[in-house]
Amino acid sequence: MKEKILNKPDLDKAKVRNVKESPIVYLGDDSSSFMMDFAKGKNYFIRTYGCQANIRDEESMRGMLESVGFNKVEKEEEADLIILNTCAVRENAEDKVYGEIGNLKGLKAKKKELIIAICGCIPEEPEILDKIIKTFPYVNLFFGTHEIHKLLSYIEHVAKHHERLVAVESKAGEVYEGMPVCRTSRYKAFVNIIYGCNKFCTYCIVPYTRGRERSRKFDDVLEECRQLVKEGYQEITLLGQNVNAYGKDLDEGKDFADMLEAVAKLGIPRLRFTTSHPWDFSDKMIDVIAKYDNIMKFIHLPVQSGNDEILRKMGRRYNSKDYLSLVKRMKDKIPGLGLSTDIIVGFPNETEEEFNDTLKLVDEVKYDSAFTFIYSPRRGTPAAKMEDNIDYETKSRRFKELVKHLEVSVNASSERMVGGIYKVLVDGVSKNNDDMYSGYTESNKLVHFKGNETLVGKIVNVKILESHTYSLIGEIVDE
Ligand code: 5AD
Ligand code: SF4
Repeated sequence: MKEKILNKPDLDKAKVRNVKESPIVYLGDDSSSFMMDFAKGKNYFIRTYGCQANIRDEESMRGMLESVGFNKVEKEEEADLIILNTCAVRENAEDKVYGEIGNLKGLKAKKKELIIAICGCIPEEPEILDKIIKTFPYVNLFFGTHEIHKLLSYIEHVAKHHERLVAVESKAGEVYEGMPVCRTSRYKAFVNIIYGCNKFCTYCIVPYTRGRERSRKFDDVLEECRQLVKEGYQEITLLGQNVNAYGKDLDEGKDFADMLEAVAKLGIPRLRFTTSHPWDFSDKMIDVIAKYDNIMKFIHLPVQSGNDEILRKMGRRYNSKDYLSLVKRMKDKIPGLGLSTDIIVGFPNETEEEFNDTLKLVDEVKYDSAFTFIYSPRRGTPAAKMEDNIDYETKSRRFKELVKHLEVSVNASSERMVGGIYKVLVDGVSKNNDDMYSGYTESNKLVHFKGNETLVGKIVNVKILESHTYSLIGEIVDE
């Protein structure tokens, strides 16, 4: 296959943050007559890995593809175009993608005109991109997180010129408004409010793969939310790597608390947001969350570690005391608050004592849910250069110990709900049991109950009958 390289990533460029000009670009229609013809009768398959930002990117890509007539299929074998939308945050996420690309070799051999594209965060890593380009010569197209809006023109190029295209630019990044969207759900929507990340936690690749923090204009976000309310959506989740930083890069005089309040006032039944960095979580935000019934009383507040020295080495900008005092202010002002977190075990050279501080913090905060990870070195990040004398066995033992500690409070918080009646937004048939339906409470607990298709997308009252560590069993009650 011939190859055209438009851009390749570069970590030095990816680090740039001192960019002044306004990064907001309003896009027009990108559907050429060539693509309208090309897409006729053609199917696409898309698989997304990783965080909500990637899920939302998938919805934009689906919007573009369907605007020219591509049809979505659930099986790779039926597709004329396969897109893998990748995640680079940990090595295991990366390995899954390699496995998946490998699996596509046979399909490509059978169907020469099949177009395979790799996008998302993995192509943004220079050495890894080079490795994939070499290892998987049958992949037709590589693009990164900054090029999503050009998807149709890239496919057109590959289809017309029969050459492989590499278009992965590292840059501070822009905000693209006006991309079509095809939402996965009819009643739950993700709305980006800020892209990128400026925090540069020393273990994290995201600031390099997704560029600088750049906010959407206040009115553009509100307009999207207003439309969702009009269409009958029941839940909006405001998205950003760090939503608290919203507005700091604009001169609109608005911050995240203003945004939360304005969206809450639109009357969406459920409003959520993720993710919040503890460093710039303001008291004004806590007050707004407390004030509006439709802002869900649930905060995801990644702590990463309970030890001050590790937090310093991670570049987290807070210590355990700051974190605990923030949690106290939240719990004091927001009754019934559900708290969740992210924790990394086995940061380079983490001692037993330092790890024990994390256990102590976890016992003190009593989280309602948590995501736990074993540290995974990411090439190009400062932590990846730190020498690490802790073996994997130790890390894995600590990981299990941490999970055990977390399960105590997670279980207790579920146990406390038994006998109570909670509002649940019905998602559909349970993943593991066809006889049951499932949905989430306001505090983000997964509940299974007997239901029917007419309830999907509705908010119902569920009495909790049984609690398990990661889910609850209940029954719908009238009220
Ligand atoms: N290794 C392990 N976990 C990581 N995370 C981010 N980078 C790494 C890494 N290199 C975790 C953090 C973050 C979550 C989304 O992923 O806990 O909050
Ligand atoms: Fe990564 Fe830290 Fe930014 Fe979160 S805040 S995306 S962990 S650099």
